[in-house]
Amino acid sequence: MNHPADTLVRPAPASSTGEPAQRFFVTSFGCQMNVYDGERMGELLTAEGMQVAEKREDADLVILNTCHIREKAVAKVYSDIGRLRRDDGSTPMIAVAGCIAQAEGAEIARRAPSVDIVVGPQAYHRLPQLIEQARRGATAIDTDMPAITKFGSLPARPRQPRPTAFLTVQEGCDKFCTSCVVPYTRGAELSRPFGELVDEACALAEGGVKEITLLGQNVNAWGGEDDRGRMQGLDGLIRAMADIKGIRRIRYTTSHPNDMTDALIAAHAEIPALMPYLHLPVQSGSNPILKAMNRSHNAESYLAIIDKVRAAKPDIALSGDFIVGFPGESEADFQATLDIVRAANYAQAFSFKYSPRPGTPAAEMEDQISPEIMDERLQRLQALLNEQQHAFNAQAVGQRMQVLLERPGRKHGQLVGKSPWLQSVHVIAEGAKIGDIIDVDIISAGPNSLEGQALQQVTA
Ligand code: 5AD
Ligand code: SF4
Repeated sequence: MNHPADTLVRPAPASSTGEPAQRFFVTSFGCQMNVYDGERMGELLTAEGMQVAEKREDADLVILNTCHIREKAVAKVYSDIGRLRRDDGSTPMIAVAGCIAQAEGAEIARRAPSVDIVVGPQAYHRLPQLIEQARRGATAIDTDMPAITKFGSLPARPRQPRPTAFLTVQEGCDKFCTSCVVPYTRGAELSRPFGELVDEACALAEGGVKEITLLGQNVNAWGGEDDRGRMQGLDGLIRAMADIKGIRRIRYTTSHPNDMTDALIAAHAEIPALMPYLHLPVQSGSNPILKAMNRSHNAESYLAIIDKVRAAKPDIALSGDFIVGFPGESEADFQATLDIVRAANYAQAFSFKYSPRPGTPAAEMEDQISPEIMDERLQRLQALLNEQQHAFNAQAVGQRMQVLLERPGRKHGQLVGKSPWLQSVHVIAEGAKIGDIIDVDIISAGPNSLEGQALQQVTA
């Protein structure tokens, strides 16, 4: 979730004016929604006649698509800005996009004067104008959250010659967890219209995409009218996507327990293309801490949802997010987190030390926890989560499963793909190619991946 991803967009022809095209490079930090936004920014600039630089050092414009969720993510970006200075002291044009841009605005240019453009996550469709403004020498800042969504102003997506793709269907958050910046950086919950999403998914499928991951900060809060004017929830959208020719797999992330409707749970049992994987963060197992976090669910109601999900889809892989060291967290509160992990049994999870974020209520709370205690608790939690993940992977050994091949592996003839449960699977598959879905016998399991033997090819 936290690794920078360099966005790849296919190069465009040189500019029509005959001048050498300006080259850009996008580095995305943070969540998958940032990866998606990075791709859309790249497509927009390509449509404007710019070209993707092969290497960041060759770029005339570098876009840092940033994350503000924890202090560490912010520090990483400021040090990355420093690294953009060339040996001769010059810098490329630098744009800070994403959640730091939204949270810090003009402050960024004061702290890092080499920054030319600051553009928030809801305003990046205006990048071409901002670049123009920056070329004229002014720092260009746009952190507006226009009522009209940026998606309508972006060019249609070009064909995507790849097996998997992200599709942002929902943005923003109305839940206001007391630790979290997202409601301030991404704005209010907004669902993209049904028709626009089905069209985008159809275009992705026509280009060869077989697996679509539907994204949203609260993706299961998605709602909208379908093509016959009926209100649908995320389950309805997933059903429509599953009917698109070529789409074989659907995933969605990330979900809030309060929006985990019975209809969505039932969809896991009823829609074969919906993969058996659920990322449902609980954050803590302690009810007083959940209350202080303003989570509006408690440990028991969370576990009741998990029970329902498992009744519908017994083999589902459960994933989650945890924060340790939230203000006021006692050892007993932390033990309650270990208890809920034992009760829920995760296939995979993300865990973080609490990081006070400026402007959030939790940052003002008394009884902030010391870094030493946070470190120690994180280690204990991660040891338990790793144990569960390893056990989940180990039970795959001896199973036959379908794997969607996504990329070449390190060894000759090896390809790496994903199991239905989102495990990475390394497989020697002579004759198979990226984008194939093949049957694989799992022969060994490690903490982070599986190894398998390919059978006959199932789908070309
Ligand atoms: N400190 C640490 N982790 C946080 N998260 C959200 N806010 C904070 C914070 N202030 C975590 C939550 C969330 C994930 C995306 O980041 O676990 O689900
Ligand atoms: Fe980071 Fe959250 Fe913004 Fe994603 S939405 S980039 S996780 S702050």
